[in-house]
Amino acid sequence: MRLRPEILATPPYRQGKPAGDDAFKLSSNENPYPPLPGVIDVVAEASRSMNRYPDAAATRLREVLAARHGVDPAEVHVGSGSVALLSQFIAAAAGPGDEVVYAWRSFEAYPGLVTVSGATSVQVPNRADGSHDLDAMADAVTDRTRVVIVCSPNNPTGTVVTAEHFALFMSRLPADVLVLLDEAYAEFVTAEGAVDGLSLLGRHPNLVVLRTFSKAYGLAGLRVGWAVGHSRILDGARASAIPLSVTGPAQEAAIASLAAEDDLLARVSEIARRRDALVGELLDQGWNIPDSQANFVWLATGAETEAADEVLRTHGIVARAFAGSGIRVTVGEAESVEKILQATAEIVRDLPENHPAKRIA
Ligand SMILES: Cc1ncc(COP(=O)(O)O)c(C=O)c1O
Repeated sequence: MRLRPEILATPPYRQGKPAGDDAFKLSSNENPYPPLPGVIDVVAEASRSMNRYPDAAATRLREVLAARHGVDPAEVHVGSGSVALLSQFIAAAAGPGDEVVYAWRSFEAYPGLVTVSGATSVQVPNRADGSHDLDAMADAVTDRTRVVIVCSPNNPTGTVVTAEHFALFMSRLPADVLVLLDEAYAEFVTAEGAVDGLSLLGRHPNLVVLRTFSKAYGLAGLRVGWAVGHSRILDGARASAIPLSVTGPAQEAAIASLAAEDDLLARVSEIARRRDALVGELLDQGWNIPDSQANFVWLATGAETEAADEVLRTHGIVARAFAGSGIRVTVGEAESVEKILQATAEIVRDLPENHPAKRIA
């Protein structure tokens, strides 16, 4: 049996580790709250017809999203999570010999998705503060570039791209390069001046904005993401999709979640407040951490990552460790914060004096 060598060399996607009963699972940026009011009922109702295939076009959900954002339903595409959408857009635009440019470190799924498409990843290092280096990303675009991915807030550093920088960046790119603005964590942003893809609709024919119901809306287990952009590009993604992947209960859950806006906003602002308080405490402990606008924080522990992850575990915190690079900790249950802080106090105390994750006193 012969498999493609680049596939053999690609590790399977590794999920955030499960947590035992007495630990907090803060490894996948999930929402700690249960589904929004009404969601479980519509899912139960929709489950009655699970002997039938779902509406492959997710028509009702697309209509609701299109009406909210003032676009045509043809300019909205729904997939089984925004990771499925990323895969479809990359496959639609890039193949062998083509390049996909993105920042690094960023969402851990990007490299694998590019490899599967047959294209080549061009990873542009983040700046020292964990933010995208948009100038360097624009410089990395060549005549082989088919897709550029911008992740704001960036997973795992939490930093945002400003609207101003994004506008400049778009003006530097050739019009035939597809730009995917991955805004999986957009609802958690409180900083002024951050890019908001939904405010840019219609301005750039080559821009597609990706959003998800997995994070703020708390539907990670049901798998619904959506994209908005030019219908011709979206048709390319639709043609690259595995048909019928978004189930009926998932579509109904998404519609019901959109109707529960007030509850959503209350939860999102609670998590953002918890994040800001956690960031403040970490700075007080002596950490040098990026300004997170998402529902997680990034500890750039570098060579000390495995040891630091072990300390978190002994305090009942299961986070996401990237060996040799750092640890991403989700802002989850209120009760987890104290345990995180006990662990991080120990970790920062034991980091070498001139470690970049330590603030210069
Ligand atoms: C930046 C980013 N984009 C996309 C996704 C995919 O989310 P989903 O497929 O659940 O919509 C994630 C999930 O962690 C993410 O961090």
